[in-house]
Amino acid sequence: MEKIKMEAVAEIGAAQSENELVSVNKRYLDKDGTLGEFFKSLGSLSKEERGVAGVKANRIKQEILAVFEKKASELKEKNKNKRSDKDWLDVTLPGINPRVGHLHPLTLVERRIVEIFYGMGFEIIQSQEIENEWYNFDALNIPKDHPARDVFDTLFLKDGSPLRPHTSPGQVRYMENHQPPLRVIVPGRVFRRDAVDASHMPNFYQIEGLMVDKALSVANFKAVIDEFFKQFFCDSETELDVYGKNSAKATAEKDNIRLRPSFFPFTEPSFEVDLRCVHCAGKGCSACKGTGWMEVMGAGMVHPNVLKNAGVNPQFWQGFAFGIGMDRLAMIKYKVNDIRLFYENDQRFLEQF
Ligand code: PHE
Repeated sequence: MEKIKMEAVAEIGAAQSENELVSVNKRYLDKDGTLGEFFKSLGSLSKEERGVAGVKANRIKQEILAVFEKKASELKEKNKNKRSDKDWLDVTLPGINPRVGHLHPLTLVERRIVEIFYGMGFEIIQSQEIENEWYNFDALNIPKDHPARDVFDTLFLKDGSPLRPHTSPGQVRYMENHQPPLRVIVPGRVFRRDAVDASHMPNFYQIEGLMVDKALSVANFKAVIDEFFKQFFCDSETELDVYGKNSAKATAEKDNIRLRPSFFPFTEPSFEVDLRCVHCAGKGCSACKGTGWMEVMGAGMVHPNVLKNAGVNPQFWQGFAFGIGMDRLAMIKYKVNDIRLFYENDQRFLEQF
């Protein structure tokens, strides 16, 4: 019995953790542990021997229990200190900066465009991406058999609804509910059945502009759009030659936009708007294919039929409309030579904006 006690006390003393201690306890004090077995073996002794041995065995059991309890409370105390060591916090350490996201370049460009037109008194609306034949074609003066229906390479849903190939349907939707005088822009996503290459995506962005009043002319359009470009490129961090801070004087006498005759069924007359190349100030470079000019939007005086279709009387009112390719403007502003970069979500590209 003394031997069992010595062994038990040594093992209890060596226990490093509360778990270890519990298993030592089990090994000695459980019914089928060392002491348990010993008590069972007492049955084979004579009555007197059994009595003496039993008393002694019980005393030893109590002694082991006392050592065990002392050790248990020591370990508990030790662990308490250990835990608060670990929990200690240095509140003067600098924090960990969270990774902060930022806006996509196309969103930045859209917000800037919206801001500039808002400053010129334009209202900003959204129009729907899924259109119907009326707003997509007929109301815009594109009759059923007109080849212009093909020009826009429209995608259709299974139920026959066209996905808008441009933001122009927004003109009609807005005028239906608003009488002139009016100024509005419609930024949004458009879709075309285009093969993907460096300058085409089947999904891209436009901003439609519309101004209708009593005596508007192409001169008003030129003034508005010239002011727009001045603001859009002036705050740019790229070294722009046309509207940049350093060259403002140099090009002040030159026209920075140019209108070329074009055709759209919903405008008459129609034109393409060219911007003097912002990279070479018109000298000719690779960005403008040596022409000194960059094509940036389609525009024109709103066709009387479109006004009529939207419930506006063309005898009293006239206006201009334009459609800006947002991706194209972003490419010029940030000198990006491939439209696909805006859609691939490569962080190495996006983190530069
Ligand atoms: N909707 C035309 C396009 O996508 C652009 C445009 C808009 C032309 C408004 C004239 C007037 O090409």
